[in-house]
Amino acid sequence: MKFLLIALTLLLPVLAHASEGEAALPAQNWSFNGLRAGWNKAELYRGYTVATQVCMSCHSFKYITHRDLMRAGFTEAEVKAMAKSMNMDLNAPLLTGLAPADAQETYGKVPPDLSMMNKAREGGADYVHAVLTGFSEDPALIKEHFPDGLPAGAYFNKAFPGHAIAMPPPLQEGAVTYADGTPATVEQMAHDVATFLQWTAEPERFERQRMGVFVLIYLAIFTLLAYLSKRAIWKDVKGH
Ligand code: HEC
Repeated sequence: MKFLLIALTLLLPVLAHASEGEAALPAQNWSFNGLRAGWNKAELYRGYTVATQVCMSCHSFKYITHRDLMRAGFTEAEVKAMAKSMNMDLNAPLLTGLAPADAQETYGKVPPDLSMMNKAREGGADYVHAVLTGFSEDPALIKEHFPDGLPAGAYFNKAFPGHAIAMPPPLQEGAVTYADGTPATVEQMAHDVATFLQWTAEPERFERQRMGVFVLIYLAIFTLLAYLSKRAIWKDVKGH
């Protein structure tokens, strides 16, 4: 009985979380989730391409430098070449050239820093992907949500809370040219840049997991030793 109560108490938050209707976000297959999770370098490089060539015209990644990319598996020569192609110092944070005052004037909002975005929003990468692919000009859909028309300067977006976003649709078919020849569809770019944003939000993700595995192995060995010594001791006590 007691055990059941404890088990239930432990399970409750999990169950409660599972039922928090987030049906609106179509869950994607991410390379950083699941059994064979890890950072996919090709994907990250494509995401970096979108982030620097598209998003950075408005958004900063203030917690990220080119040197940090070495933690994602890029070599020093690679990150040097990447920084050079952007005319940036290896240790300089990835900052947009758009001044906050100019952004405010043009868009009515200052684009938020994207380094921690995947952690700051419920749904993380699924949410970012949904926002990037969620723009619509369907008049019926817009009228349904805004009978008096969209607020001035806003764009309709299915995933953004309130559905009126100040960000113009940033991704158009072929907005970038991928070095690996992958066709730059809106879907592909959204997926790649959302993966990149996951990395900027938690570059330590797999370092932490590896640590977790070591702790588990340590605990398993410790448990085995405890069990063996218990057996040895009881053997004497019982006089077998
Ligand atoms: C032309 C400028 C511009 C570009 C380019 C741009 N954004 Fe934005 N973005 C904005 C503005 C302005 C906002 C603030 C929107 C609001 O709060 O209504 C914003 C907001 C966001 C948000 C926050 C949504 C939220 O929940 O608050 C995300 C995520 C985002 N942008 C991602 C991106 C990504 C990824 C790219 C590159 C593919 C990108 N943006 C390119 C201007 C831009």
